[in-house]
Amino acid sequence: MAIKVAFIGAGGIAGYHLSHLVKIQDVQLVGFCDVDSSRAQAKAKQHKAKAYRDHRRMLDATKPHAVYVCTPPFAHGPYELDAVARGCHLFVEKPIATTMDTALEIRDTVAKAGVVSAVGYQDRYQDIIAKLKAVLRTRRVATAMGYWMGGMPGVPWWRVKATSGGQHTEQTTHIFDMVRYLFGEARTVYAAASRGLMTDVPNYDVEDLSAATLVLKSGMVATVYSACCLKAGGKCGIDIFCTDARIEYVERQSVTVREASRTEEFRNVADYGQAIDDAFIGAIRSKGKDNKVLSPYPDAVKSLALSLAVDKSLATGQPVEL
Ligand SMILES: NC(=O)c1ccc[n+]([C@@H]2O[C@H](COP(=O)([O-])OP(=O)(O)OC[C@H]3O[C@@H](n4cnc5c(N)ncnc54)[C@H](O)[C@@H]3O)[C@@H](O)[C@H]2O)c1
Repeated sequence: MAIKVAFIGAGGIAGYHLSHLVKIQDVQLVGFCDVDSSRAQAKAKQHKAKAYRDHRRMLDATKPHAVYVCTPPFAHGPYELDAVARGCHLFVEKPIATTMDTALEIRDTVAKAGVVSAVGYQDRYQDIIAKLKAVLRTRRVATAMGYWMGGMPGVPWWRVKATSGGQHTEQTTHIFDMVRYLFGEARTVYAAASRGLMTDVPNYDVEDLSAATLVLKSGMVATVYSACCLKAGGKCGIDIFCTDARIEYVERQSVTVREASRTEEFRNVADYGQAIDDAFIGAIRSKGKDNKVLSPYPDAVKSLALSLAVDKSLATGQPVEL
């Protein structure tokens, strides 16, 4: 039986998932909903589906088994709740919300309904991250320095803190999530930020740069940097300092392990973007029995909590306990 899939939000990242879903057997794209009707219509035409402006009408008319919520960070809540209320399995793009209240309500609703959930932390599905986890099992990690140092994405909602959450919540969430995935949960966060470095971007109110020091529950200290003010190329990844090795994770590319007398590099072979969508659809098809989803919604709530703790520390100038 075909798995019927509908999309809420038909922009850039929706296209990414669609490029994978069309390669999975027995997936039928049934509906696209967007506040920008032209976007919903374009994707609907491309995939022989129906276009909607009202998500409830789409859910009731197309009766999807699964819904992808690919809206900007501020536009979450009713989409997920209405989809789960109709028994739909749920894929949500990161960051899952801009407030904990919204995320917690969705988390509890997902748990009660028992649907399959997944969040767009595709970096977890990389071959090199499986290798890195194995390498770390035999090492003593002293510290990790993560960074998402880049420029500002062009979409209009990004530059406004209330709609994107700022760089630490919007894109660096991939790095905070990876720090959690590799090293465990944080206990305390201390953060500071700079503003006003960009002089040619009108009407922006996000931080240009921030630095967050995390004390993990294990006692390990990690730092995570975020920037959206760089125009000449940036850097995304994590430098991991072990007592007997230095390991560099270059986001979505490679892991290099440098010991005193030996260097070993791992590169991604499989398509981790395809892997995240395969895992979600596979979990639905097996009725949850073969669930290879690495970032279900309740786990992603913890990554949001971490970046919102950074946000609170930025706002108050005080350490924040998680
Ligand atoms: N996992 C990843 O690596 C990754 C990469 C890119 C984007 N994303 C995430 O995906 C989300 C969307 O990003 P994007 O690049 O596709 O943005 P986008 O602006 O290209 O697309 C968002 C779409 O949502 C629509 N939209 C806006 N408000 C809406 C609302 N209230 N209801 C319904 N539709 C609404 C817009 O009209 C637009 O078509 C963001 O949270 C972003 O962080 C994730």
